[in-house]
Amino acid sequence: MAMGFLSLFVFFSSFVYVSSAEFSSIPGINYGQVGNNLPSPLKSVELIKSLKAKRVKIYDANPEILKALSNTNYQVSIMVPNQLIVNVSSNQTLANEWVKTNVLPFYPQTLIRYLLVGNEVISSSPPEVWAALVPAIRRIKHSLKHFGIRKVKVGTSTAMDVLESSFPPSNGTFRSDIADRVMKPLLQFLDRTKSFFFLDVYPYFAWSSDPNTISLDYTLFESKNITVTDPATGLVYHNLFDQMVDSVYFAMKRLGYPNIRIFIAETGWPNGGDIDQIGANIHNAATYNRNFVKKVTTKPPVGTPARPGSILPSFIFALYNENQKPGVGTERHFGLLYPNGSHVYEIDLSGKTPESEYKPLPPAENNKPYKGKIWCVAAEGANVTALSGALSYACSQGNKTCDAIQPGKPCSKPDSLVLRASYAFSSYWVQFRPSGGTCFFNGLATQTTKDPSYGSCKFPSVTLK
Ligand SMILES: *[C@@H]1O[C@H](CO)[C@@H](O)[C@H](O)[C@H]1NC(C)=O
Ligand SMILES: *[C@@H]1O[C@H](CO)[C@@H](O)[C@H](O)[C@H]1NC(C)=O
Ligand SMILES: *[C@@H]1O[C@H](CO)[C@@H](O)[C@H](O)[C@H]1NC(C)=O
Ligand SMILES: *[C@@H]1O[C@H](CO)[C@@H](O)[C@H](O)[C@H]1NC(C)=O
Ligand SMILES: *[C@@H]1O[C@H](CO)[C@@H](O)[C@H](O)[C@H]1NC(C)=O
Ligand SMILES: *[C@@H]1O[C@H](CO)[C@@H](O)[C@H](O)[C@H]1NC(C)=O
Ligand SMILES: *[C@@H]1O[C@H](CO)[C@@H](O)[C@H](O)[C@H]1NC(C)=O
Repeated sequence: MAMGFLSLFVFFSSFVYVSSAEFSSIPGINYGQVGNNLPSPLKSVELIKSLKAKRVKIYDANPEILKALSNTNYQVSIMVPNQLIVNVSSNQTLANEWVKTNVLPFYPQTLIRYLLVGNEVISSSPPEVWAALVPAIRRIKHSLKHFGIRKVKVGTSTAMDVLESSFPPSNGTFRSDIADRVMKPLLQFLDRTKSFFFLDVYPYFAWSSDPNTISLDYTLFESKNITVTDPATGLVYHNLFDQMVDSVYFAMKRLGYPNIRIFIAETGWPNGGDIDQIGANIHNAATYNRNFVKKVTTKPPVGTPARPGSILPSFIFALYNENQKPGVGTERHFGLLYPNGSHVYEIDLSGKTPESEYKPLPPAENNKPYKGKIWCVAAEGANVTALSGALSYACSQGNKTCDAIQPGKPCSKPDSLVLRASYAFSSYWVQFRPSGGTCFFNGLATQTTKDPSYGSCKFPSVTLK
């Protein structure tokens, strides 16, 4: 009897072992490629090995990358680009062609397991595309079936802005403009096909937009004593990430789908950013990502307060700092690695390296908002041709942006392209920052706290209080 029980137990636990080897809680990595200085796909796959990731997600179906990932153990997530969604939604031939070109040549040698139709479509594409999203997803699923491929889960990635309410988590509700039109049919598809709700979750953005209300420790999974209790459910939260994820569970439940699994398609923390951005530093990035790894690799799985004990599959964002991503500085600083392949900080995605083996981190220098003046100037070594193009562009925007550098005006002399561009960038940025304008100009501009004014030429500045 005891023997029988024991062998049954051994059998059962080895079964569990096999199935959990297939469905790992070890995070994957988002391999973005928006940079002009990144290592080759083959080299990148080696670097991914050094991180001990389990899965790789790409934002297209780059054939070189899919080839480099063949005959490895990485489960791979590929993507139909947003621009194709409308056409695919109404054209099965096109859907079949996409799968034929982008999946068949690599499958099954490359373990393609997830196929995302679009990236944050609701956030980044116009409403015409929203209506095409689920029809396109259905067509891609149909194509896979047509070609006899059944192991690939189809879905789409969404950001937290699909919710109109996320606090307390039990109040999680999808936006009314998409709830019935997009989310309901999406959830129906995910439920029917046992796929996942692919969610991009960035506690960093929630905290950095409201650092006086939200505790940084709570956001970094570091808080020992701060908890948030959801009054409606009594669930107790120890970090912001769980709160955000659960608000999506509750939103799905509200639409009648309480059982769809969430797959964290992106999460991470910037290791650097602009002067006017708070908390983007190596210390916090390492802390957040290491704690995230610890959370999701803990055995048995902890899940979230609303789904205790469930495995949270995930991809961390991102493999590299990507120097050509537009927008604010943090966008270009989410990498675990620099483009030269060296680690920004030590991290082991398998969760097997104890905290004590890591070298001490540099202190966090910008966890409080910067106060003072900031200017936007030409970056060192900026390409002269490109700089004069950016100068013309900046001067063509806004009101009187470049008056001061016209002949006879205080900033017309000396006749230096770098000085004129710096003036134009500062003047542009001061006017457009309130509406989301950035100090970037494709890498030609950078923020500085050193006043570039000279003589009677005063540069406009942004003042943070
Ligand atoms: C979508 O289809 C239209 C009409 O066939 C075509 O003109 C357009 O180029 C297609 N768009 C893309 C992104 O392929
Ligand atoms: C559907 O897609 C195929 C393959 O790209 C193309 O040849 C065909 O013209 C498209 N049909 C329509 C109605 O746009
Ligand atoms: C719940 O969400 C709604 C919006 O969907 C909001 O008006 C309401 O204030 C929220 N309730 C609480 C307790 O925050
Ligand atoms: C939690 O602990 C920190 C550090 O000991 C302390 O500064 C903070 O006031 C505490 N917060 C609460 C809500 O008790
Ligand atoms: C890689 O790049 C980073 C950031 O530019 C730099 O700090 C580091 O020294 C470089 N490492 C090597 C091995 O070149
Ligand atoms: C400088 O910029 C121009 C225009 O953007 C581009 O054509 C040229 O290749 C660039 N030169 C270098 C050295 O990067
Ligand atoms: C330029 O001036 C007009 C009219 O005063 C104003 O409506 C507009 O917002 C200004 N543009 C910027 C970028 O400040």
